[in-house]
Amino acid sequence: MFTERKITVGVTGGIAAYKAADIVSWLSKNGAGVQVAMTKGACAFIDPLVFKTLSKRPVAVDIFDQAEAYNVPHLDCAACDLFVVVPATANILAKAAHGLADDLLSAALLATKAPVLFAPAMHCDMYTNPVTQENIAALCRRGWRMIAPDSGVLACGAQGVGRLASVQQIQEAITEALLPARPLQGKRVLVTAGPTYEYLDPVRFIGNRSSGKMGYALAEAACRAGADVTLISGPCALATPAGVQRIDVISGADMAQACFSVYDGVDIVIMAAAVADYRPEEYIPHKQKKGAEKTVRLVENQDILAALGQERGDRLLIGFAAETENLAEYARIKLRKKNLDMIIANDVSQKGAGFDGDTNIITSIVRGETEDTLRSWPLMSKKQAAEQIIELITGLPRFPYIGSQKEEKQK
Ligand code: CTP
Repeated sequence: MFTERKITVGVTGGIAAYKAADIVSWLSKNGAGVQVAMTKGACAFIDPLVFKTLSKRPVAVDIFDQAEAYNVPHLDCAACDLFVVVPATANILAKAAHGLADDLLSAALLATKAPVLFAPAMHCDMYTNPVTQENIAALCRRGWRMIAPDSGVLACGAQGVGRLASVQQIQEAITEALLPARPLQGKRVLVTAGPTYEYLDPVRFIGNRSSGKMGYALAEAACRAGADVTLISGPCALATPAGVQRIDVISGADMAQACFSVYDGVDIVIMAAAVADYRPEEYIPHKQKKGAEKTVRLVENQDILAALGQERGDRLLIGFAAETENLAEYARIKLRKKNLDMIIANDVSQKGAGFDGDTNIITSIVRGETEDTLRSWPLMSKKQAAEQIIELITGLPRFPYIGSQKEEKQK
């Protein structure tokens, strides 16, 4: 389940430290690479040998450890996919909240860029102390998460909140943090990207300005959300995102043919390509010599998205609208005319929303029964915009009825 994930488990000095052994054992059995980092206090409660045996790795305790196993011990511990501290004492919460780094575990926490989960466990009076609560609130504000402790009889006999959450609760929180929701799991998504080139002769073409970055970012985001992604790409110099199947095309006619060839099995289409609207009526198979004035007659290319829209069935169709004026009005017309569920409009004359850059300024328009929902987004990276668009797709009114979910519903 966690193959190729590296998890650092921090263990601090409380009676619940022995329960961390169950967590380390479960992570190892599920394929995770586990690095245990203990405080000196934790070593008073449980021998590092227990964790070394379960994780099959030396346990990090000393920030100045010269052992061969580490490069820089606290940085090695910091570099992971998830950092879990179980149990987390009031002391480690206070140190983490204030950026103290006077031992290996606190230094590793200060250095980590990974998501952090704390499973606090302490005496109820320490837990409910406003100082501890403020520290917890400060850590949560920074995006670090707490697995809330249980109430009950504590090790000292007192009754109250402060017992380490159950092993099952900790396992669930770790699973959720490591395996984020994949809302497009089982969905087949077609993304188009880049320009198309319409050749006049073997060396000259007409086409639209497009780097392909928005479409490639969408293919990557859809793949991360669990979809099976086919990317139909016009000519552009970008690497294929991992896990994405790419089909290269040159002209609008090639792109249309490629789209129709995969359309049958597709649940969602995101048409981000800047398809050239026109192509030269005639292709001259040798290089045209300069000299005389030339006139090129252009004929209209097929509107691929409009054609897909006419046979959309249960599919979700998402289009783009590149405009320089009357953004919402023109985009709305395209939304209806091409029979789409959503259109992403951008004013390409705005700074930051251009063709070649890494950023975009988008307006989403979702088609409604009677009224469309329009939402404008601030400047963001194309990668962020792609994440946002994927999130919007999963929230579309028709989304739950596509593909396998619909079949399940009909049973
Ligand atoms: N599109 C398409 N086939 C075309 C032209 C456009 O599939 N021949 C798609 C684009 O990929 C985009 C949407 O249609 O998702 C709108 O493209 P855009 O260039 O903004 O508008 P056009 O429909 O071409 O209209 P105009 O150029 O007049 O604005």
